Amino acid sequence: MEGQNPILNSIKRGLKRPLWASLLFLFTVILLSGLQINKEYSIFSIPLGFMSGRVGFISGSQRSCADFFKQVPARKVVKSITDFGGIGDGKTSNTDAFQRAMEFMARFTDTGGSQLVVPKGRWLTGSFNLTSNFTLFLQHDAVILGSQDPKEWPIINALPSYGRGRERPGGRHISLIHGNGLTNVVITGENGTIDGQGKMWWELWWNRTLVHTRGHLVELINSQNILIQNLTFLNSPFWTIHPIYCRNIVIRNMTILSPLDTPNTDGIDPDSSLNVCIEDCYIESGDDLIAVKSGWDQYGMKMARPSTNIIVRRVKGTTPTCSGVGIGSEMSGGVSNVIIEDLYVKDSAAGVRIKTDIGRGGYIANITINNMRMERVKVPIRFSRGANDHPDERWDPKALPKVRGIHISNVVSLDSKRPPLLEGIEEAPFEEIHMKNISLFGLDPSMTWNCKFISGSSCSVFPTPCSQLLKNESNFQCPN
Ligand SMILES: *[C@@H]1O[C@H](CO)[C@@H](O)[C@H](O)[C@H]1NC(C)=O
Ligand SMILES: *[C@@H]1O[C@H](CO)[C@@H](O)[C@H](O)[C@H]1NC(C)=O
Ligand SMILES: *[C@@H]1O[C@H](CO)[C@@H](O)[C@H](O)[C@H]1NC(C)=O
Ligand SMILES: *[C@@H]1O[C@H](CO)[C@@H](O)[C@H](O)[C@H]1NC(C)=O
Ligand SMILES: *[C@@H]1O[C@H](CO)[C@@H](O)[C@H](O)[C@H]1NC(C)=O
Ligand SMILES: *[C@@H]1O[C@H](CO)[C@@H](O)[C@H](O)[C@H]1NC(C)=O
Ligand SMILES: *[C@@H]1O[C@H](CO)[C@@H](O)[C@H](O)[C@H]1NC(C)=O
Ligand SMILES: *[C@@H]1O[C@H](CO)[C@@H](O)[C@H](O)[C@H]1NC(C)=O
Ligand SMILES: *[C@@H]1O[C@H](CO)[C@@H](O)[C@H](O)[C@H]1NC(C)=O
Repeated sequence: MEGQNPILNSIKRGLKRPLWASLLFLFTVILLSGLQINKEYSIFSIPLGFMSGRVGFISGSQRSCADFFKQVPARKVVKSITDFGGIGDGKTSNTDAFQRAMEFMARFTDTGGSQLVVPKGRWLTGSFNLTSNFTLFLQHDAVILGSQDPKEWPIINALPSYGRGRERPGGRHISLIHGNGLTNVVITGENGTIDGQGKMWWELWWNRTLVHTRGHLVELINSQNILIQNLTFLNSPFWTIHPIYCRNIVIRNMTILSPLDTPNTDGIDPDSSLNVCIEDCYIESGDDLIAVKSGWDQYGMKMARPSTNIIVRRVKGTTPTCSGVGIGSEMSGGVSNVIIEDLYVKDSAAGVRIKTDIGRGGYIANITINNMRMERVKVPIRFSRGANDHPDERWDPKALPKVRGIHISNVVSLDSKRPPLLEGIEEAPFEEIHMKNISLFGLDPSMTWNCKFISGSSCSVFPTPCSQLLKNESNFQCPN
């Protein structure tokens, strides 16, 4: 397998080479692989200078997302949804109003940009597409409500890195708010709300009558320089915010809520995207608060579009059956250079979870998790195989994921139920798992860490970790 994965090999070689050389090589490989993919999702428009200018910047000391989003000038044209006949009574459909508004706004993408204001009221609508150089602004007490008619969430093509809908074969429902190939978009306001009214979709899932994969609340495909800030997103049918094949995305100061028992209502899922910064968000949901992904099995491997340079900072929340931050399980295009810091997770199943499986291929490399606090989290740190779910029978049982370089430090967990479970894959053990200054309280003294097919080191870890992490204690220096 090793010889077949140029990106992983470049990372591995990079560990021995000067940093600039490895980064240059890595990004060249990414750029070249980007050129080979489906034109609809290509990154032809990205100048190399822009890319290399933004490579070396990621650092734990950087305290804001500012470098990831280039400020946009004030929009020349500002209109209200009421200018397009919108009625905010919670009952009248505004699908036409929003679609007409967006057609109008699209005229100004290259002549100064535009802003659509949604005032106080309850604005029921089906799906609509955003445009470039555009701001969607939800005033205080403005609520956009997702249509309850599935036909207002029309079917679009499956994503090439998934090969099919994630839940059902074939196409998938479009997101409520959608964008493809956009630049310079801001979705913001005065804590206005976008409510997907997902109950209908969750019921279709629960009662097994869902025909096509559910839509996201907001999905952006192949887009760049996007800011989502100062809003509340509720009741997404499926993953709430899904940037895929994107670069330079900032998601900040958001409240994202779904009932705690709802299926697959992930908060934010950066997927095959470069330079994503998520900070100061509060998320409650029925699935992972944040899940970093990069495509599914052979489809994700073929597209080979990684998620790289991802920062998750000051995120808080609850998810009773899933994890604070998950990496995977779809990670076949690779996930690298992820920094997660100042994470607070309460009343949840796991704090940090790495999920992968045989058939996924790809890699998870260079992940740093620093300063995490947990309360009543069942398994604070969990690495495990997934549910053995594959897009179709053509998945390759020889496609093993590589997991290497996971640094976890400064963690406190109160009222933990079970010790960490760190389970690699026999044919592809997880390597360079480093733990430093970890205190997990509340565990029965008879419980021991559960490790299999992993190697690494540890320092100042309570309770005593598994033997696999004790062998190389000196490799991971404790301060002083
Ligand atoms: C967006 O506006 C900028 C100027 O602010 C302009 O350079 C760019 O071409 C516009 N983008 C599109 C897609 O029209
Ligand atoms: C939105 O864009 C998608 C393609 O990304 C297209 O299939 C759909 O028809 C568009 N919807 C509207 C309302 O224009
Ligand atoms: C966060 O958003 C709220 C509105 O949702 C706003 O009142 C507050 O000032 C914002 N905070 C920051 C730090 O941007
Ligand atoms: C925004 O509204 C949500 C939902 O009503 C609320 O939970 C949150 O605290 C508000 N945020 C701010 C900063 O006021
Ligand atoms: C499944 O849920 C949908 C949405 O609530 C509902 O319309 C449908 O009647 C339900 N089907 C069954 C078989 O319960
Ligand atoms: C979010 O709210 C803060 C505080 O009010 C404000 O400074 C910032 O400009 C807002 N962001 C956007 C994108 O509107
Ligand atoms: C690993 O990640 C850190 C922080 O994200 C970054 O500074 C470093 O360059 C990365 N190393 C490699 C080999 O990519
Ligand atoms: C260990 O981690 C805790 C929790 O983040 C932190 O408060 C403490 O300062 C850390 N200790 C050292 C020696 O870094
Ligand atoms: C311990 O470190 C040595 C040298 O760095 C390495 O060769 C070996 O594989 C490591 N063992 C484990 C169990 O991590």
